[in-house]
Amino acid sequence: MFHHVEPYAGDPILSLNEAFGKDPRTDKINLSIGIYFDDDAKIPMLPSVRAAELKVVAEAGARPYLPMEGAANFRTAVQHLLFGAEHAALKAGRVVTIQTVGSSGGLKVGADFIKRYFPNTTILVSDPTWDNHRAVFEGSGLTVQTYPYYDAATGGLRFDAMLQALSKAEKHSVVLLHACCHNPTGVDLTDAQWQQLLPVLQERELIPFLDLAYQGYGASIAEDAFAVRLFADSGISFLVANSFSKSMSLYGERCGALTIVCPDAGQAVNVLGQLKANVRRNYSNPPMHGGQLVARVLTDPELRAMWEAEVVAMRDRIQLMRKKLFDVLSAKLPGRDVSYFLTQRGMFSYTGLSPEQCDRLKEEFGVYILRSGRMCVAGLNSRNVEATANAMAAVLA
Ligand code: LMR
Repeated sequence: MFHHVEPYAGDPILSLNEAFGKDPRTDKINLSIGIYFDDDAKIPMLPSVRAAELKVVAEAGARPYLPMEGAANFRTAVQHLLFGAEHAALKAGRVVTIQTVGSSGGLKVGADFIKRYFPNTTILVSDPTWDNHRAVFEGSGLTVQTYPYYDAATGGLRFDAMLQALSKAEKHSVVLLHACCHNPTGVDLTDAQWQQLLPVLQERELIPFLDLAYQGYGASIAEDAFAVRLFADSGISFLVANSFSKSMSLYGERCGALTIVCPDAGQAVNVLGQLKANVRRNYSNPPMHGGQLVARVLTDPELRAMWEAEVVAMRDRIQLMRKKLFDVLSAKLPGRDVSYFLTQRGMFSYTGLSPEQCDRLKEEFGVYILRSGRMCVAGLNSRNVEATANAMAAVLA
């Protein structure tokens, strides 16, 4: 019956993380998957989220189905987080948000929406982008192409080439943009560059799709939403998929959202209706528990303040690891400019290592980074950072 079903090659990120789990070496170092580990190499249970969970559980009653679009308190809290509670676009009723199964779920529902209403359009993703973007979009039947992004020579951004490519894109192409903490490179647009990009998007009538999975890891919660707010201020229509996996350390709860900013409230009603229809066709409605933790943290002033401080602490610890990596590597490899470890932001850095050098890191030293050269800096800690830097120096020498 199933003889024609071909084997699955596996996912480059999840498979490597699984391989790490099976590696018997006790001194192995996991810098593969995008998860924040604390200085004791543990996934933290944030005290704000723990306190929210105790309250939510104490108050918990029956578990009816949520509506297709998710819980109202979660959706409102997400909108306030993304745009600021007083944003004119919210007051005009032209923003719709649904609770999704992680931001991956938001990307998928958004991709299906695009395919249905812009069936012949192309989605342009950065070169490179998160390994799963192409799979999600192609899975929805969209044609995926790339725009220039990462500059391997400098470890920075090819901003002029990016602008030039987008200024020639077909009308109504969708442009996937990482709102902050670009995955996999850690290379972000500055605020001024976002402002320069906006008129190009407007002129070509392109549809931005912002992926905001690392809010708070680049700068403050509000600063990391700069692109979202800039686009909303400008009046253009766009999509945003956002996640609480990393910012609230809630990976397994799959808490995310898809937001679409529409031209007016009338169109917003129809757009929301079609998102609901898509959810109903796929998984009917989202799960309840995780979203209630998120909503409680975001709306309880005391928990909100705790959480914001916890995000700062995670961000600062990553920054410290970047600095230590830079210090050891620049001392060991004086001829090599490794300052990109300091300028790249968020969980990831593109190390510039070749696939073969990444293989050597894994096999000889037990240091797991993706074969693309992507390293999850958030997996470094005060006990493994020096060993990681030494291993990298050895394979780079
Ligand atoms: C990553 O990029 O490693 C994370 O976003 C986890 C994932 O699902 O790929």
